Amino acid sequence: MIIFGGSNSSNLAEKVAKLKNHELGEIEVRQFPDSELYVRILSNVKDRECVVMQSTQNNDNLIELLIILDALMDLKAKKVTAVIPYLGYARQDKRFKSGEALSARTVLKLIRNSADRLITVNCHFLNEGGAFDVDDYFDVTSRFFEKNMKSDTFDDIHFDKKIKNNGKQELIVENIDAFPVVAKYFKSKFNENLVVIAPDKGALQHAKLAADVIGCEFDYLEKTRLSGDAVTIKTKSLNIKNQNVLILDDMISTGGTIAESAKIIRQCGAKTINVGCVHGVFSKGTEMFKGVVDEVVCTNTINRECSRVDVSGLIAGSL
Ligand code: R5P
Repeated sequence: MIIFGGSNSSNLAEKVAKLKNHELGEIEVRQFPDSELYVRILSNVKDRECVVMQSTQNNDNLIELLIILDALMDLKAKKVTAVIPYLGYARQDKRFKSGEALSARTVLKLIRNSADRLITVNCHFLNEGGAFDVDDYFDVTSRFFEKNMKSDTFDDIHFDKKIKNNGKQELIVENIDAFPVVAKYFKSKFNENLVVIAPDKGALQHAKLAADVIGCEFDYLEKTRLSGDAVTIKTKSLNIKNQNVLILDDMISTGGTIAESAKIIRQCGAKTINVGCVHGVFSKGTEMFKGVVDEVVCTNTINRECSRVDVSGLIAGSL
């Protein structure tokens, strides 16, 4: 097996190659003057199993990944696995208004065209692993949403339809759960008076799992999303006075969810406020958390200053 790192995940690729004792592939990626990408695979990949690692939090990352995957197929690699620790566009998996693009499907179709297997981390709509029929899955969810426009019953319908073995449409998918390693980080930091809070009901299952790992209590807040970067969080009577609180979410994007949650938690008398997430997108930076929370930690699915939790062991375990 040979492991290639795209320019957004080269550190992670190096770590995984080391852990697995596999060759790190050589690749040249640069930009033409007009910003188009030039990609050249320098290692010999013919008849070899290849892995490409690249988080896709922006369009350039995605295009680079697709070009690398396609080049490997073209150079007659035996099997190509795309490891996308943070899979961008994953939140656009539902059609809430008619005419909306299912961008998550578009991205998965593109990946399916050039990869045999996809490994990702905490992608919210991929609860299970298996042979994933991209067209069938999204066809079912989009029809469902057009009819019902309700997301809270989503979980009831989609998974029975999702796993299907019908030939070349399928992509083998694995969705790694990094919440236990995030929980372990905070467990080693606080050995008592820790309580895990989910900022909304959607994150509750993760909070419960993390609380199990830590051996502490958990609860949740009530969030309503007003727009892409505005949320309201309803006060709930939380029993967190003088407790160390850990707010856990799968990702931080604009930071609005965490900032609003922290306000409520502070009002409830928490001793410290700590934030853990898997994907630190931080589209508005991390300045806004200064003086608002005590610590923000994410994993290295996206490489950030506060990436204090390493997922390379989890990824290596899946290869
Ligand atoms: C949404 O359901 C996710 O779990 C996160 O809560 C959300 O993406 C965070 O977004 P933001 O940081 O922009 O509030």
